[in-house]
Parts: sequence; C-alpha cells; structure tokens
Amino acid sequence: MEQELFRLQQEAEEALRQVDDVAQLEAFRVKFLGRKGGLLSGILRQLGTVASQDRPRLGQLANDVKQAVENQFEEKKKLFVTSSIGTASGVMDYSLPGRYLPFGKLHPVTQVMEEICSIFEGLGFAVAEGPDVETDYYNFEALNIPKHHPARDMHDTFYITESILLRTHTSPMQARIMEKQDPPLRYIAPGKVYRCDSDITHTPMFHQVEGFLVDKEVSFADLKGVLTSFTHKMFEKELALRFRPSFFPFTEPSAEVDIACVICGGKGCRVCKRTGWLEILGSGLIDPEVLKMVGYDPDIYSGFAFGLGVERIAMLKYGIDDIRLYYENDLRFLSQF
Ligand code: PHE
Repeated sequence: MEQELFRLQQEAEEALRQVDDVAQLEAFRVKFLGRKGGLLSGILRQLGTVASQDRPRLGQLANDVKQAVENQFEEKKKLFVTSSIGTASGVMDYSLPGRYLPFGKLHPVTQVMEEICSIFEGLGFAVAEGPDVETDYYNFEALNIPKHHPARDMHDTFYITESILLRTHTSPMQARIMEKQDPPLRYIAPGKVYRCDSDITHTPMFHQVEGFLVDKEVSFADLKGVLTSFTHKMFEKELALRFRPSFFPFTEPSAEVDIACVICGGKGCRVCKRTGWLEILGSGLIDPEVLKMVGYDPDIYSGFAFGLGVERIAMLKYGIDDIRLYYENDLRFLSQF
C-alpha cells in the first residue's frame, strides 16, 4: 500500500504538470481528489483492510499524500483564476485583445476656431478674448445701438438683468479694445455668443470670430483683400466670394459676405436654402460714431470690422448639413474629426 501511495503521488504530480486549462484542471480534480470515485479516496477506503498495527502509520501517510496533492492542486488553480477578465468561469483569457484608452480630441468647432485664428495671426492680427456675460453698454450702446433701437430685435437677446446679458456677438470686443488702446490696431476676438434661436442653421450658443483693424486710410478694399485671402487659405481653394450690401449700426457701409456653397457646388441645396451661396460673415467699415465713442478722431482714423460664424465655416469645410450635430455630443459624429 505504501508503494501504491508513492506511485499515486507521482502520477498525480505528473498529471498536474500537463494541465493547461480549467477543463483539464477539473478532470484532474475528479480523477484524483474526487470524494466518490477519486483515486486517493479509494486508497483511504482500503485502510480498513490493512493489518491494525500498520493502520496508524499508513493512515498518516495516506493523509499526507492527499494533503500534498491537494496543495499542489490549489497552487495550480491560482494560476487560472488570478484575474476575472475573460470567461464566465472567471478565468483569464490570454487571447483577448488588450484594452486601449481612446484618445481625446478637440471638438471640431474648436479645431476650426483655432485654424481661423492661426490664419489671421499669419496676417498680423493679435488674439484677444472677452467675457461671455456682457453689459448692455458694450453689447449695444458702444456699438451705436441705443436703447429701443430696432436693430436690437435682430439679436434675440438672453437678458440676465436689465443691463447685463449674454453677448449676442463678439463685436463688444471692438469697443473694449479700442477704448484701452490707440491705433494702429489689428485684432481678432474668438468666442461664444448666445441668441434665443434654434433650427437647422441656428443654435442658442454658437461661436464667432470678430476681427477689426483701425489705422489711417483704411478702406473697403483692405477689408476685401483680408477676407479674400482668409477664405482662400481656409478652404484651400479659390472660392467665389460675394459682398452683399447690408446694414449694421456699427459699420458704414456694411456688407454680408457669402461664399459659394461647397456642399452643392452652388447648385442649390437644403443648407444654402437653394441659393447656391452661404453667408459666413457680416462686415463693414467701422462707423465714425463708434470711433467717436472710444475717443478716436474719425477724420484721422478709419477701420474695418467683420464677424465670422465658426459653425458655418466648419459646416462648409466638412460638408455637415445640420448645425445641431455639433452639440448632441454623439461620439459617432465627433470621432470623425
Ligand atoms: N456682429 C455682427 C453679427 O453678429 C457681425 C459683424 C461684425 C458685422 C463686425 C459687422 C462688423 O451679426
């Protein structure tokens, strides 16, 4: 019996060495350690048949062997269950692909805004930022829009108090900068603006980049030159530009600038409202009244200003036909940029 115990121990050790998955481990357990048909239990049961003076010693030996095999079994089991990734049985599956951390990216609107800024920086403009929560004075009064002026209707303003509001455009930055510095000035001011408006081409919050230049003898030709060279750089092709006479209380003369719709190629589609053109900015020569209010002499200085819609430009650049997609935070959309 002693012989048999040693042989069994060896056999068990050898068998355990061959085990390399959970199924084999379980088969091993049943074969050697199983309570009913297991080989070790079988030997222990035979103890009853040995001579009574040998029984304590053999009993002890049999228990030691069983314990040793059990210990080795437990050690082996640990190799399979150190991690619970993988299968339902809680076993590590080494063939699984590794987990990866997705990269964060800048929002497409931020990307386009940074690109716009870098093009204007290349043209010699400095970048300035101002507050989203603005006073009525800078948003309207300083821009030649007095109280009760009908132009206020265009802005669908979110008021906070009677004199504090969410800026409806980035133009207040013109007044803020001009009242602190003397010409020559060449600035752009990117940022968020707010209007109570929502449809396929409008969201209640959107982004603008304001630009303005003040110096001696600035003319509309300078405005046209700067905007044309910006557009060609932005869209990497010589897109047609259209200057449409318009009105803003803070510019005179004023123009809205359209570019040929790159979604439909100018044929007319949902986005350009069948006109073939897409409005991207408002512009003009800074109104002498605005210059006077910041203490400049309009007989000496003149300037131009423009306000670009960032989402519009990004829509054109990437062929997106619904502005609301930018703000739904759907990763399937965002991860394309
Ligand atoms: N602030 C105007 C708007 O939001 C755009 C504009 C800026 C027009 C500068 C003229 C000059 O619509």
